[in-house]
Amino acid sequence: MTATPEPQTSNGPGEKPVLKVRDLKVTFTRGGKRIRAAKGVSFDAKPGKMLAIIGESGSGKSVTVRALMGLLPPSAEVVGSADLEGQELVGLSDKKMRMIRGQEISMIFQDPGRSLNPTMSVGAQIVESVRTHRPVSRKKAAERAIELLKLVRLPAPEKRFHQFPHQLSGGMRQRVMIAIALASDPKVLIADEATTALDVTTQAQIMELLVDLRERLGTAVIMISHDLGLAASYADEVLVMYAGKVVEQAATSELFANVRMPYTRALLEAIPQITRPSHAPLTVISGHPPDPSQRIEGCPFKPRCIRSTDECATAPLLEEHEPGHWYACWHPVDGALAPIPEKSGAVPGEAAAVAADVEALPGERPPSVSVTSTRTPAIGKESTS
Ligand SMILES: Nc1ncnc2c1ncn2[C@@H]1O[C@H](COP(=O)(O)OP(=O)(O)OP(=O)(O)O)[C@@H](O)[C@H]1O
Ligand code: SF4
Ligand SMILES: [Mg+2]
Repeated sequence: MTATPEPQTSNGPGEKPVLKVRDLKVTFTRGGKRIRAAKGVSFDAKPGKMLAIIGESGSGKSVTVRALMGLLPPSAEVVGSADLEGQELVGLSDKKMRMIRGQEISMIFQDPGRSLNPTMSVGAQIVESVRTHRPVSRKKAAERAIELLKLVRLPAPEKRFHQFPHQLSGGMRQRVMIAIALASDPKVLIADEATTALDVTTQAQIMELLVDLRERLGTAVIMISHDLGLAASYADEVLVMYAGKVVEQAATSELFANVRMPYTRALLEAIPQITRPSHAPLTVISGHPPDPSQRIEGCPFKPRCIRSTDECATAPLLEEHEPGHWYACWHPVDGALAPIPEKSGAVPGEAAAVAADVEALPGERPPSVSVTSTRTPAIGKESTS
């Protein structure tokens, strides 16, 4: 059985999605093997909302959004539907997709250092991006570039405009990438692990920026992360992927108050908490996700699931069991706080270290910022990383 291609919405009625993804499947052929990386993914992205797609490494998060952007290699076969305000993206020619990419949908990646051109000033790169999308003079594009740098709250934008990427901190470079991504006023902004390479404080500041932008500009933000804590803190809605499938989806508050999938709960338990006593074990999910080239019988989480029974030999459908709350499980757990029995293989660990200061450039005094964990829902005012 496969996940239902029906709409899965939990942000409330009356919010018309800008992007409707239905039953999206991505299959690679490599070495004679068929690798089924996305197996019928459906979701809506809504204006002014942040949707988090989370899941362990290899669960199909990046493949799903790259399929929407037309960024997969020719070995990928993509079927299903991705409707961007009436425009079907699946099956578009490269030429048409190039026009939509960057214009209607933009994407920022984990490593802004690699995405920026080291030989051009950041201003010149934003100007280039503005002029790709708008027939404006260089002067007007430069004014727009400064506006964009202000929008992403880069300190001293006029000065930074003339600087090169290596003269900026990682957080500042990511702000520049966001400015470039916003140059075309995209309807959808996808952030694929965009804060993973940053220290915890800078990560929180960039997430705050994305939250603020989605509100101010009405952009639909799709945030991809393996970090459930980030999703809990910032997203409006969370979609959990496992083995190429959506296994749970709900509004963030609902999901974290009433987690149902044992997999989601295990991810939640695996979040490092700075409040955890140092002797307390850090739960990790034992075992590995299934090989995507092998056919899976039954629930894909079965070999790792502490609640599995014979019934789980039949794959559960992704269904709306409670209003706005979708999950695929025969034996759902009862909320986030019920204890998870330990399974052999869980390793002890220490809480994650938290960086105390935002990145400082040589000769620049680091701004003082209170230390926050990724689980803190409300982060104070931005600093200048
Ligand atoms: N070009 C490719 N050819 C063959 N298989 C691929 C290709 N790209 C991705 N895959 C496979 O598709 C599956 C999903 O990969 P994907 O990159 O979407 O994972 P992810 O959820 O984004 O993981 P991570 O958190 O590590 O980024 C993986 O098994 C991966 O090996
Ligand atoms: S269906 Fe069964 S194996 Fe799958 S997550 Fe639920 S309890 Fe576990
Ligand atoms: Mg990825």
